[in-house]
Amino acid sequence: MTDVQQWLEKIGLAQYADLFAKNDIDWEILAELNEQDLEKLGVSLGHRKKLIKAISEARSASLQAPKRLDEAQATIGTANARAERRHLTVLLCDLVGSTALSARLDPEDLRGILHEFQRCCGDAIRRYEGHIARFMGDGVLAYFGFPTAHEDDAERAVNTALEMVESVSALAIPTAQKLEVRVGIASGLVVVGDLIGEGPAREFALVGDAPNLAARLQAIAEPNRILVASRTRHLLGKLFEFADLGDHNIKGLDRPIHVWRVLASSSVASRFEARQSSHLTPLIGRQAELALLQKQYGKAKRGKGQVILISGEPGIGKSRLVVALRNRLAGEMHGFLSFQCSSYHTSSAFYPVIQHLERAAGITRDTLPTDRLDKLEILLRQQTEQANSVMPLLAVLLSIPTKDRYAPLELTPQQLKNRTFSALLALLEASTEQHPVILVFEDVHWADPTSLELLERIRDHYRIGGCW
Ligand SMILES: Nc1ncnc2c1ncn2[C@@H]1O[C@H](COP(=O)(O)OP(=O)(O)OP(=O)(O)O)[C@@H](O)[C@H]1O
Ligand SMILES: [Mg+2]
Repeated sequence: MTDVQQWLEKIGLAQYADLFAKNDIDWEILAELNEQDLEKLGVSLGHRKKLIKAISEARSASLQAPKRLDEAQATIGTANARAERRHLTVLLCDLVGSTALSARLDPEDLRGILHEFQRCCGDAIRRYEGHIARFMGDGVLAYFGFPTAHEDDAERAVNTALEMVESVSALAIPTAQKLEVRVGIASGLVVVGDLIGEGPAREFALVGDAPNLAARLQAIAEPNRILVASRTRHLLGKLFEFADLGDHNIKGLDRPIHVWRVLASSSVASRFEARQSSHLTPLIGRQAELALLQKQYGKAKRGKGQVILISGEPGIGKSRLVVALRNRLAGEMHGFLSFQCSSYHTSSAFYPVIQHLERAAGITRDTLPTDRLDKLEILLRQQTEQANSVMPLLAVLLSIPTKDRYAPLELTPQQLKNRTFSALLALLEASTEQHPVILVFEDVHWADPTSLELLERIRDHYRIGGCW
């Protein structure tokens, strides 16, 4: 029996099962049906109303749209999916103190809060392309690595958790108290089986220790803390900063589990650096490519700027080549500016530039707004004599309030963009006065359009002709 047949039976309209099957109506289509469609199918007025109501209830019963469930289904075949072995990262997030809240708040208000909590969690999971397995009122369970797998699923899960903590704490609630969450994340091999349960509440049967471990970690986490176990920690390399919480005896597990707390994204400059576990192995081959890079660098040093595009399959050694060039130039005075584009921020204007400036200024998530302004000022004063004129623009770029230190900028968005380009070019110009500068945009295929425009402006500013 198909999902749709079962569901029709449950709502007492099993007589339409054959009709729906004949018209190829599966879960995905079902979610899109409207009154006219049902009328065309010959469904009576009363039943049309009943069906529309049931479809909309099924949707809101779970914020996980039937479409997502179906994407998952499509990936593993049919409703009677075969079992699949997958490496999965499981995230479990729970709202702290929801029982106490329910005692203090009007049910309507509590419902609103839970809805907002679920929205924040859902947005973060979707942003990092995880799968919402289940919403449980004041909790959410998500998978990274199934049905869609990415090479960086553990990283996606932690980024999701960091965003959940940030966005849920920023919610304003009637008691004026801050909302907090606990998050547990665990990775491991699981066997994903058939869909179990009914309607939109269906989920995949999962066998493996990751879901259980994620639940245990979440249970022992302090408010607003994200805990991971060793296997996830290993997958994350230097991408995040961690506090080592040592071994913990966890109920239900026969051996102690080593637990780590995620503190923040790490401040390493590039994805390449973050993924290197220890020393680099010696460079193999690539002598011709390296010679070309050095030749072009020589031209730039003589005042003729060069653009080089290094492209190739993932993991082929593009970033390694840049490291090799830097090693070759170790004895020479040169500047090196690294901009890391991100697959998660392809439409966020100036993303790699903002990250670069924050890192250079030593600004982290925890830096207070006034300290941010001080740090940016120190950086700019070290780099240019025009610090006063670029400062207000770069403060806006980094979303730092300037209070009464700088007059507010009264510019149209286009003027602001142009002036920001000019300020960034002035900064680059100042650094190239001292010595040649190598500017690396890592993973430029993920660059946002504004950063790409900046690259074009740099190219035009230095009148760089071709691209190697
Ligand atoms: N020629 C080489 N000699 C030695 N090690 C290499 C070489 N090329 C690549 N590697 C190693 O292979 C791994 C992947 O290389 P790297 O990260 O540079 O690839 P990439 O093309 O930049 O990948 P991505 O597209 O994911 O950014 C790294 O650990 C790197 O040190
Ligand atoms: Mg690379």
